[in-house]
Amino acid sequence: MKILAIETSCDETAIAVLSGDGDSLRLEKNAVYSQIDIHKKFGGVVPEVAARKHLETIIPLIDDTLGKDKLRGIDYLAVTSGPGLVTSLILGITAAKTLAYVHQLPLVSVNHIEGHVYSPWLTNEIDAKKHFPALVLVVSGGHTEIILMKGHGDYQLIGQTLDDAVGEAYDKVAKLMGLGYPGGPIVSKLAEEGNKDAYKLPRPMMDSGDYNFSLSGLKTAVLYSLEKKKSIDQEDISNMCASFQNAVIEVLLSKTIKAAKEFEVKSIMIAGGVSANQALKDALGSEAKKMDLPFFYPELKFTGDNAAMIAVAAYYKIKSKKAELLKGKNIFSLEPNGNWQLVKNKV
Ligand code: KG4
Ligand code: ZN
Repeated sequence: MKILAIETSCDETAIAVLSGDGDSLRLEKNAVYSQIDIHKKFGGVVPEVAARKHLETIIPLIDDTLGKDKLRGIDYLAVTSGPGLVTSLILGITAAKTLAYVHQLPLVSVNHIEGHVYSPWLTNEIDAKKHFPALVLVVSGGHTEIILMKGHGDYQLIGQTLDDAVGEAYDKVAKLMGLGYPGGPIVSKLAEEGNKDAYKLPRPMMDSGDYNFSLSGLKTAVLYSLEKKKSIDQEDISNMCASFQNAVIEVLLSKTIKAAKEFEVKSIMIAGGVSANQALKDALGSEAKKMDLPFFYPELKFTGDNAAMIAVAAYYKIKSKKAELLKGKNIFSLEPNGNWQLVKNKV
């Protein structure tokens, strides 16, 4: 089975071709055009600018990536149709609909978060029989969720953030220290040189008894701690980055591990942009090891938004017969859903 996937939910225009046979996957093509340098100067993603850039990029990217092969051998088209920026989603959806209709191929709509959930599958030997149920910590710029994955396409929401997402918290903390955008990579780099015990920051909702998170208070605590100081030097900034990161990791770790125990999972996974964070992966990996559980994470190039993860999610949706295959005129019924929740049912 060969799938061509398109992803344009935020500020990355991405396309991938994946072929699969059983659990053996082969990523044949993978291209990501990131708009980060364009949005950097605005301190965040500007939706109108993102949409215009997707419009300019999508066709050349498809042409360059597919080359003279065009759509030869492709069996299905997959596209992200939410959650994300509607003005961005619509460009990928329109491209996918057009290709599917013209080439008479079935079209599969994929949830962006489900894509992230499947990103570790691209480079790990994950076996449904051995590794389900899995506990998946999804941490990105827009999402922070603990999901229990009982089977392909079978999810239960265990906990989520009540306010800011983890990546968003990194971005906001970086912004208030004037460090640039996106904040995650900058803050985590500076944290390596800092003292994590330099500032006493709260561990929000650590003992709330559920699996939810709240991260906006942490950002305010960072602001107050810095305001108390007369002047701030580079060392203070590194120390604050380390203290902030330590607080975030402690909260994420404690809830994820507690949930892994309660739900007696057979593996732990992490996904989303923040899964690029080495300190978080090290901490989670060592806790998983103590519990004798395999720990899976995506390769660095698949942590951020990409179409390869959308293709794997589509592959398993089709394989497990959970995909709705849009064909012929039905292809045109697909619309973007900016707030599409992968799982609504909370345990
Ligand atoms: O998944 P993603 O590329 O886009 C969304 O779907 O949101 O995630 C982007 C987020 C940004 O907030 C960015 O600051 C964060 O991931 N991020 C990191 C790291 N690398 C990226 N956060 C913490 N540590 C990192 N190393
Ligand atoms: Zn994402």
